[in-house]
Amino acid sequence: MKIFLDTADIDEIRTAARWGVLDGVTTNPTLYAKVSGASYESILAEVCKITPGPVSAEVVAEDVEGMLREGRSFAKLAPNIVVKVPMSEEGLEAISRFAEEGIKTNCTLVFSSNQGLLAAKAGASLISPFVGRLDDINQDGMIVIRELAEMFAIHDIESEVLAASIRHPQHVTQAALAGAHIATLPFKVLQQMVHHPLTDKGIVQFRADWEKARATLASKKGD
Ligand code: E4P
Repeated sequence: MKIFLDTADIDEIRTAARWGVLDGVTTNPTLYAKVSGASYESILAEVCKITPGPVSAEVVAEDVEGMLREGRSFAKLAPNIVVKVPMSEEGLEAISRFAEEGIKTNCTLVFSSNQGLLAAKAGASLISPFVGRLDDINQDGMIVIRELAEMFAIHDIESEVLAASIRHPQHVTQAALAGAHIATLPFKVLQQMVHHPLTDKGIVQFRADWEKARATLASKKGD
């Protein structure tokens, strides 16, 4: 399963890239609002340079022509831009028009398997079911991931299932086991995946024992 970062924060993206675990990035207007101070386009251009894979840039227009205008402009920023389009009647039409133009899309705000199936049929490369937001309303978000992964495998559909709205490390494990092709994570969840209390305790213990052994050796040499 590929790992994307769900952020517009350049430092977080640089860090994950240095760790060698970054496959792509997803952004949205909310994530942009958290780091704003520069234009969305200039942030995206920077993110595209650092990121080895796809970078999702979300349109805010709700009409087809507006979505096409924003998406075409994002697509000119870098070859790894993927235009993020919300699931709606207009969104499906825009996805299908982008596909005809060779512009890749990520269909966002997907909450059911049928929505995901339609987005794939319209030509979206990435389908983003929102796991955490479904869990929030007491529905099992992981069911949508599992169903879409199965549907795409049975019917040989090329679109990839991108588990979005990930809230904790268990979501990542569950998404991988449910067959998600990609999970997009807040940086905090990526950090949580790195650490384990026994790993951190073990590192401290090994260092202490090493120092003890060196001190014993030095005192013997001094005898
Ligand atoms: C990513 O593509 C989505 O926009 C994002 O994961 C949504 O996450 P949230 O539900 O935590 O806002």
